Amino acid sequence: MGIIDPTACYSLIEEFTLGRDVLAEMAESFRDEMTRGLSHSGRASLRMLKSYIGLPTGNETGEYLALDFGGTNLRVLRILLEGQGKYKILKKVARPLRVEGEYNYIGAGSEAETLFDFIAVLVDEAIEGNRTDRFFLGHTFSFPSSQTSLRDATLISWTKEFATGGVEGRAVNELLRLALEHRGIKNVLPVAVINDTVAVLLSAAYRHGDTFIGSIYATGHNTCYFEPEAEAGEAPMIRNLESGNFDIVPQNRFDMWLDAHSEKPGEQLLEKMVAGRYMGELFGLALAELLGEKGKVYPFTSVDISEIIRDETDDLLRDGKNLNTKMTQACVRQPQSHFKSAAIISNKTQKEFALEDVAMARELAAAIVVRSARLVGASFSGILGHMGKNKETRQHIAVDGSVYEKMPLVKEHIQATLRELLGAAGDNIDTLLENGGSGLGAAIAAAMAEK
Ligand code: GLC
Repeated sequence: MGIIDPTACYSLIEEFTLGRDVLAEMAESFRDEMTRGLSHSGRASLRMLKSYIGLPTGNETGEYLALDFGGTNLRVLRILLEGQGKYKILKKVARPLRVEGEYNYIGAGSEAETLFDFIAVLVDEAIEGNRTDRFFLGHTFSFPSSQTSLRDATLISWTKEFATGGVEGRAVNELLRLALEHRGIKNVLPVAVINDTVAVLLSAAYRHGDTFIGSIYATGHNTCYFEPEAEAGEAPMIRNLESGNFDIVPQNRFDMWLDAHSEKPGEQLLEKMVAGRYMGELFGLALAELLGEKGKVYPFTSVDISEIIRDETDDLLRDGKNLNTKMTQACVRQPQSHFKSAAIISNKTQKEFALEDVAMARELAAAIVVRSARLVGASFSGILGHMGKNKETRQHIAVDGSVYEKMPLVKEHIQATLRELLGAAGDNIDTLLENGGSGLGAAIAAAMAEK
């Protein structure tokens, strides 16, 4: 006998399951919200931020510095653009922004100056102390920011639970310039700031063409697209939707709880349902309820979830034929603690799990992931709807991020959702992993700024 009641588990899974109608409605309101955001008429949860950059030709060339700031890892790269969609990474340095028990530049209590001084140290490493050659730097800054040019961006509001003091409301390249100066670096010139979604789109457009939508599906989630309609006096440009903030979403009670207990309640509602930063928490919350500890959050991460889903052990359980014998054989061959998923679940809940409990927990984890992928697919469908007849064009949607790259079930469910919502037109669209797009995109932006 297991400790999870299957009926209760299936009813929870039901709460995390979204049918076609709900998704179609969401895609529709996503599209309306884009129009509202673009027309500045009334409040819209999609910010549709201007990037002041269009699509690259693929023939940008030269050596540039790329600073990638937006997740728990900070990266600085020196990249050589060779044109014709080609490039070389000449140098890469990376450092976490938070090391448990050692330092934390992104939590409440940390300050802008210390954070940017740390960034300047990494830039220095990337240029290997060179104080003579001139470097143009592209800066991927992956938070909602308002821009009036490509050169700088003002942070509107932290997301993804970042909380460093003294950055909101400030121009980030100005903070970077000050920190570089402070370190005596005068030959690095920050010339462009872009969102990571914009970086992914630039990178994919540079390398493959036929890409008009770029997305990040990782710790956070967000999407941008190329808007051919320009405002008076401006050139057509990429718009950063800040789609993680979309708020006409089918939340369940777990989503509401998680939102209420987050750094910024009421904000980033879509992101809190789909992104890697939150999926583990949703799972931990739902599983605690199943195990009679409602209100507790077992500390699962999205990496745990992917391990649990990927574990093949309970495929044995799914195979209806010989179920019992197979189960017994499996248990005898490998004691339960040897099964990776069982080990993870027992460790995080401090409870003994039977094999059938692991199978149930896995179904729950899969439901959370599938819901996430379907919501992302519905948002893509909303954007394609906005693009009107251009959605018929064969194209890629470029996506970067650990959830897209590594989480089982994600890719196929985005694609299936597009097919479900767009019909045959969905077959013209494929999602494409644009690995490392944040760095390459920053270098391309620097090249485009200097043209
Ligand atoms: C958050 C940020 C957004 C970024 C995304 C992915 O949603 O607000 O700017 O693109 O995370 O990193």
